[in-house]
Amino acid sequence: MSDSGHSKHNKTKRKELQELKKMFDTKKYYLDRSTIKQAGYGVFCKRDIPAKTRVDEYVGEIIDDEEGAKRQDKTYFFRVMHKDGTSHIIDALPHEHSNIMKFVNGVKTAQQRKRQNCEAYQRNNKIYYRTIRDVKAGEELLVDYGPTYWLKPEELEQLQLLMMDGL
Ligand SMILES: C[S@@+](CC[C@H](N)C(=O)[O-])C[C@H]1O[C@@H](n2cnc3c(N)ncnc32)[C@H](O)[C@@H]1O
Repeated sequence: MSDSGHSKHNKTKRKELQELKKMFDTKKYYLDRSTIKQAGYGVFCKRDIPAKTRVDEYVGEIIDDEEGAKRQDKTYFFRVMHKDGTSHIIDALPHEHSNIMKFVNGVKTAQQRKRQNCEAYQRNNKIYYRTIRDVKAGEELLVDYGPTYWLKPEELEQLQLLMMDGL
């Protein structure tokens, strides 16, 4: 990219961040560039939050597997398991159906695991995030997306085949 191309791109990114910041701002949390390289945006605390505090619900569009399979971008998918063995997907990709929780990043490396300060839990077929330790104002919220999130599609497929075989 040329110098002017770069500066145009940076200006667009800055504008996007300002708009998203406004759109998703809450009393307790704000959006900003993540502290994790290449992770995009992340969610930060405006004030100290004690351990075991509900952060917020992970909201999005409720879809079934058939609809999920049609969607290309599965970045913001969260599968919710029901007691009867069925499940649904929450897709937080569309801004109009989501809240700031869609921007909470996940721990991926051993180093990042040490920084995990939130966990997901399920109540009545809804997903919430809560803190697992005291979190300081200005700290980025980091959750564990679970063991399959970071798998490549072919690795996931392999795992699904193994599970169908009874492992
Ligand atoms: C639910 S979104 C989180 C919000 C995202 N950072 C954004 O700006 O929209 C999940 C995506 O964020 C990025 N991400 C989250 N945690 C990450 C990490 N530890 N390292 C690199 N990328 C990460 C990945 O692109 C992942 O697919």
